[in-house]
Amino acid sequence: MTFRNTHQPKSINDLVFKDPNVEQTIRDYAAGKATKHLILHGPIGSGKSSAAKMIVAERCGQPFDELPNITVNGRIDKDRKDWADIERDWDLQRMVNSAGRAYTIIDEVDECSPKLRGQLDALIETDRKGTVIMTTNNLHDLPDWFCDRCAVVRVDLPGISDIEQRVQDILRAEGLPCSPAAVQTLLTNFNGSLRQMIDWVEGYVRHAAPPSVGIVASSGRIIRPSSPKVSINGTSI
Ligand SMILES: Nc1ncnc2c1ncn2[C@@H]1O[C@H](COP(=O)(O)OP(=O)(O)OP(=O)(O)O)[C@@H](O)[C@H]1O
Ligand SMILES: [Mg+2]
Repeated sequence: MTFRNTHQPKSINDLVFKDPNVEQTIRDYAAGKATKHLILHGPIGSGKSSAAKMIVAERCGQPFDELPNITVNGRIDKDRKDWADIERDWDLQRMVNSAGRAYTIIDEVDECSPKLRGQLDALIETDRKGTVIMTTNNLHDLPDWFCDRCAVVRVDLPGISDIEQRVQDILRAEGLPCSPAAVQTLLTNFNGSLRQMIDWVEGYVRHAAPPSVGIVASSGRIIRPSSPKVSINGTSI
């Protein structure tokens, strides 16, 4: 299993947000208090798809990494002609979901063709027993009439202080507990992308753990009894 998969969020408490209001919205959806179709938009790597998956995991009572294939990706799924499979899946989900409600995630919804978006509008206007959670980097490419049918929430890139606790948790799980000051130094040039966060932490763990010493962690990484000073992204820790 990759480092990224090992440390992907497992509960809603593992997600990180810049804006507490956005976090509350995600929590409301995860608790089933909000069900309107949702568009999460914002910069690359701000955690939109992870938040979408976590809502569905919580509503369906399934672990994040064992979710059935309920995600469509507008960038990849270019051969899609209609949403008939999603309608069938909603019927099935309503029967088996502990939530009694169906959920579909559409990542990169701006890359669905205008025709597909028109058909999606028909689905979300007529069938009110399911919630579509969409993500996009390009809200401006979605027509106003489409956005008006959804709750639209901007997910901004987190800052260092927003991810500090999460980074500490990951390092602790790897057997490399770090002081808040060391985490701050590790993330000195952090640009906000959560992909970069996880890559930097992986780099730190790799460099901090020579193969000669330590025990193997659940992720396959070597755990050392103490963390040495290392340099990552040009910064000494
Ligand atoms: N809280 C977190 N803890 C650990 N890893 C995370 C966390 N949030 C996101 N990630 C990881 O960071 C990566 C990017 O997150 P995600 O896909 O949610 O971002 P995104 O906003 O959807 O990006 P894009 O705009 O490129 O689609 C993913 O590999 C995800 O597993
Ligand atoms: Mg995404």
